[in-house]
Amino acid sequence: MLAGARWEEVPEIMAKLDNESVLTALKTVMDPDLHRDLVSLNMIEDLSVVDDRVTFTLVLTTAACPLKDQIEGDARSAVMKVPGVREVTIRTISRMRKPKDPTADRKALPGVASVIAIGSGKGGVGKSTVAANLAVALAATGARVGLLDGDIYGPNLPRMLGVRRQPSTRDGKVLPLEAWGLKFMSMGLLVDEGEAVVWRGPMLHGAIKSFLHDVEWGDLDYLLVDLPPGTGDVQLSLIQQTWVVGAVVVTTPSTVAIEDAVKAVAMFAKLHVPVLGVIENMSYFECPSCRTRHEIFNSASAEERALAMGLPFLGAIPIHPDVREGGDSGKPVVLEKPGSPYARALVEIAGQLARRVSIQAHAAPVPSAV
Ligand SMILES: Nc1ncnc2c1ncn2[C@@H]1O[C@H](COP(=O)(O)OP(=O)(O)O)[C@@H](O)[C@H]1O
Ligand SMILES: [Mg+2]
Repeated sequence: MLAGARWEEVPEIMAKLDNESVLTALKTVMDPDLHRDLVSLNMIEDLSVVDDRVTFTLVLTTAACPLKDQIEGDARSAVMKVPGVREVTIRTISRMRKPKDPTADRKALPGVASVIAIGSGKGGVGKSTVAANLAVALAATGARVGLLDGDIYGPNLPRMLGVRRQPSTRDGKVLPLEAWGLKFMSMGLLVDEGEAVVWRGPMLHGAIKSFLHDVEWGDLDYLLVDLPPGTGDVQLSLIQQTWVVGAVVVTTPSTVAIEDAVKAVAMFAKLHVPVLGVIENMSYFECPSCRTRHEIFNSASAEERALAMGLPFLGAIPIHPDVREGGDSGKPVVLEKPGSPYARALVEIAGQLARRVSIQAHAAPVPSAV
């Protein structure tokens, strides 16, 4: 009971609307992934209360956050419940948290918040196709995205993105090409089409180093690196050259592909790169005339294996000629056939990936203050 206040005045005093009462309400709203409230996550900025109108900025961890509407809605309804509030205006922005490299001995990419490796054990499982479409889908949300073709011997991304030009340079740095709202770089831009790159391991190391540090990536929320299949030199170089926030493993549901995916997971574990999740590509075929689902590989389930290994399953993409056609013609299917089951699956997976990156970034060790 407030000193000196009469009983009949209490409701009025309680109804006094100020920043404090709004923040108290916002402290009850949790980020569903990070399991902490919006205030302690520093997600509320520029709060102002004028008469019965509340305005604030909601700072999300990523523009690609699929929970954006839910968090915004929860924040709005919590504030609307504060006595005296008539109007709530929320400006939603995003700012990625850039976690510190726990070992701090790898050269950071100054403007890049998170480097994500896309790997697989086996070739031909659709890793490049998935990487290109995920990058495009993330960029379509407004996130700043780069895509690095780490497949030095078999660079497919210029074809899949439909862009093949010699990149230019500025102040000794190579400028990445821009396509579909993202920046990208590939060995395929530096050699003539059809020419083979015949290099030994140490040269690969130099190429990866150059692609990371001599390319003007600028400010990026995500840099996706499409790795060659296997567990070899490029994978090692990438991880030695910069800090990778996490890896995604792509597989098909065939037994051999899953066996190789398990090896890729083991490699990332050995290199202390967290696996953000597993994607099953060419999961099934839905016959356009009879609508029956055909399990082409009809064998294993990547989802079961992922869950058995304690890894998140990010989603399944059906096999469909449009997906291949999108890659061959340089028009990523997420933009060319939006609303199709395969485009929807890819967009959904991009959102799941963004969630896992945010969770990983918040779980990363915070540098000691001393
Ligand atoms: N979901 C899919 N449906 C149909 N074709 C696909 C699908 N995913 C990939 N492909 C095709 O399979 C082939 C191999 O894919 P690619 O992305 O090059 O694999 P990787 O990078 O793992 O070697 C390409 O021709 C590609 O267009
Ligand atoms: Mg590839």
